[in-house]
Amino acid sequence: MRVGVIGTGYVGLVVGACLADAGNDVICADVDESKIARLKQNQIPIYEPGLEELVVRNQEDGRLRFTTDVGACVRGSDIIFIAVGTPPGEDGSADLKHVLEVAAAIGRNMDGEKIVITKSTVPVGTAAKVRAEIEKHSGMPVHVCSNPEFLKEGAAVDDFMKPDRVVIGTDSDYARSALAELYAPFVRTGNPILFMDVASAEITKYAANAMLATRISFMNMIASLCDAIGANVDHVRKGVGSDPRIGNSFLFPGVGYGGSCFPKDVKALIRTLEEFDIDAGLLEAVESVNERQKRLLLDHLDERLGRDLSGVTVAVWGLAFKPETDDMREAPSLEVVRGLVERGATVRAHDPVAMEVARRVLGDGISYVDVNYDALPGASALLILTDWKQYRSPAFGRMKGLMQRPLVLDGRNLYDPVRMGQLGFEYVSVGRGASASPIAMEAPASSA
Ligand SMILES: NC(=O)c1ccc[n+]([C@@H]2O[C@H](COP(=O)([O-])OP(=O)(O)OC[C@H]3O[C@@H](n4cnc5c(N)ncnc54)[C@H](O)[C@@H]3O)[C@@H](O)[C@H]2O)c1
Repeated sequence: MRVGVIGTGYVGLVVGACLADAGNDVICADVDESKIARLKQNQIPIYEPGLEELVVRNQEDGRLRFTTDVGACVRGSDIIFIAVGTPPGEDGSADLKHVLEVAAAIGRNMDGEKIVITKSTVPVGTAAKVRAEIEKHSGMPVHVCSNPEFLKEGAAVDDFMKPDRVVIGTDSDYARSALAELYAPFVRTGNPILFMDVASAEITKYAANAMLATRISFMNMIASLCDAIGANVDHVRKGVGSDPRIGNSFLFPGVGYGGSCFPKDVKALIRTLEEFDIDAGLLEAVESVNERQKRLLLDHLDERLGRDLSGVTVAVWGLAFKPETDDMREAPSLEVVRGLVERGATVRAHDPVAMEVARRVLGDGISYVDVNYDALPGASALLILTDWKQYRSPAFGRMKGLMQRPLVLDGRNLYDPVRMGQLGFEYVSVGRGASASPIAMEAPASSA
């Protein structure tokens, strides 16, 4: 099938490469000239496991092409995915500027019947706006569908190749049968293609992300309670998650959710709910717990070292918002590192893949080290912000020997608190009773 993908970011590039790998003839377009120039040279602008191999193979075999000419991409395709960014506008709602720009370009270049798919995460009602924009410029038949993407950065190729489900919102039989054929190679193990109306598909994506964000904030709230009374959130998490109605995923407390999706999608859903006069209080609470959580390690540090950190070196392990990606968008590390700099600390940071991107965002006011241990010499504290595998079993003796004060603030609960105590570390993690007396188990008086 002739497929066009407009927008070659984290989503578009994965979609294009995976569809090409299934044998389709794919052309990816982007307005970012340097990105396209690099892609043509098989240089991948993002870190995403397995992606480079796919791009190289399919480009060499001629099934995957890159262009800055959006019009040519439209004219050369029968199925067109819109995969451009939908950043939050000033009021938090999704900014549809790029999506509608692309819709207009599609309209101007329609040369036959086409299926146009919003792959970007877009609020309910967007497909209708895309159709209207295309129809302003063309009278050719167009089938506008919603096909939200559920891939996870860090496992994007695998997620696209073996999706839990494919959600397609359409009212067109023509689009339904073409998309069933396009996705057939990816659902051979029986995972469903869920066809539904367009509005339901648009809502599904926001509902899924808001639900996941809610679970994270919920567990962060429970972790605060565990800290306050000296309980252990690991036990609570397992006890709760073993109920099959709840399940174990997304119950890990930490330093708050970040990334390019959850923060903006929760905000956008709040705006949509408000537009329809529906109380968004639940999601506002999810957001406010998350904002608090991002400051948790700074609060612990203030308690131990005071707010003035001039002359104090602080080491940071992990900058990306989660492991296996270099995406720094809305990463909790941004707030933490900026807070450290504001307090006058000398910050030395390490991340296995995100340092180049981090440097563009955080600048040179902090130093970046290539080996995680090199962040530690003379440090009065180590903050762990991303649960990269390589931080899980470090040489504790070496760490302790390098640090001026063996204070570890672990925002990802990587280590055993008892063992860390035995090794002589001052160890603070999330929701495992570190900041409270372990015997203060009585209910607070106010709860009577
Ligand atoms: N990143 C994720 O994990 C993820 C997962 C699911 C859904 N999504 C959604 O997918 C969409 C894209 O996300 P992303 O992370 O890939 O964004 P991104 O910022 O990485 O990529 C967007 C690309 O679109 C290009 N672009 C912008 N305007 C354009 C135009 N007029 N014509 C052609 N190209 C244009 C940009 O240059 C950029 O390369 C968003 O709506 C996002 O919410 C993202």
